[in-house]
Amino acid sequence: MKDFSEIKEQYKQKIEDVLDSEQLSEFWQKYLGKTGVISGLMKEMKSVPPEEKPSFGKAVNDVRVWAQELYQTKQAEIKERELERRYEKEAVDVTMPALRRAPANLHPISIIRQEMIDVFAGMGFEVYEGPEIEDDDHNFTRLNVLKDHPSRDMQDTFWLTEDLLLRTHTSPGQIRTMDREKPPIKVLVPGKVFRSDSDATHSPMFSQLEGLVVDKGITLCDLQGMLDQFVRQIFGESTKTRLRPSYFPFTEPSVEVDVSCFECGGKGCSLCKGTGWIEVLGGGVVNNKVLENCGIDPEEYSGIAFGIGIERITMLKYGIPHMGKFFENNRDFLEQFKA
Ligand code: DAH
Repeated sequence: MKDFSEIKEQYKQKIEDVLDSEQLSEFWQKYLGKTGVISGLMKEMKSVPPEEKPSFGKAVNDVRVWAQELYQTKQAEIKERELERRYEKEAVDVTMPALRRAPANLHPISIIRQEMIDVFAGMGFEVYEGPEIEDDDHNFTRLNVLKDHPSRDMQDTFWLTEDLLLRTHTSPGQIRTMDREKPPIKVLVPGKVFRSDSDATHSPMFSQLEGLVVDKGITLCDLQGMLDQFVRQIFGESTKTRLRPSYFPFTEPSVEVDVSCFECGGKGCSLCKGTGWIEVLGGGVVNNKVLENCGIDPEEYSGIAFGIGIERITMLKYGIPHMGKFFENNRDFLEQFKA
């Protein structure tokens, strides 16, 4: 009687060598599949004498059952090992320190721009943002800065074409507002402006906040009152303003506005260069020609306007010595302005 011990021995050895599920399925094909070694044993039935057929059949079946059991044990073993390996690979070390995510903060220019807008919004101003690419008409001509007028040289313009330019100031926002709206007008135009100029206190790109009020009976006193309020809120309650005569083509009269030095209180220090005063902005009564250029009758209406450099206010307020600081993206510098 055949006990298939040779086949069983070989089977036992081969299954030992199986290491993963891929090899296991190959092994199954080879031994337990339809054309496998164990199925092959049944084919030998033909040559078995009839009286031995039942016991031969049983013996083959016993081998099959024995082989399947071994196979299942191996299968379970491999499955567990592979699962373990997967767990190892996907393991998360919960004791590992997490990546630090520092909360972002606003750029100092953005902080001060918003503070400035908030002060004027409290006086009823609305905000309008004009285009950074302007034409000669809006940036110069209709603001009464005529062609060949020497005042054009006050601003070193980046020209794009014969007519188009990067706006040199936010004042064209005045023209755009008056084209769009009828008085009463009370608008702020914040935005980037561009000039070919670069040193400790100048950058080819910087920001301004333009203000325009047009209504019946508006005078220079309204400008001074608003600016008094503005500087008290930005630099402190005891800050005072001083208007000095100046010249801008789009205002008549024009003024330059100084604030009493908030560092020394007016006694004179290095910030105010010993004068007790610091220049912060330009402004004036809107030139009649500008109103006329926008179809507003200067007999009926008058206006005031001002332009403030946002970087300048920020440098003064935080004691920042160099314009370059704003654009270096140095995190140590920027993180000082966390709210
Ligand atoms: N646009 C001027 C400049 O950039 C600043 C300015 C002065 C704006 C007087 C005004 C103003 O609205 O009335 O130098």
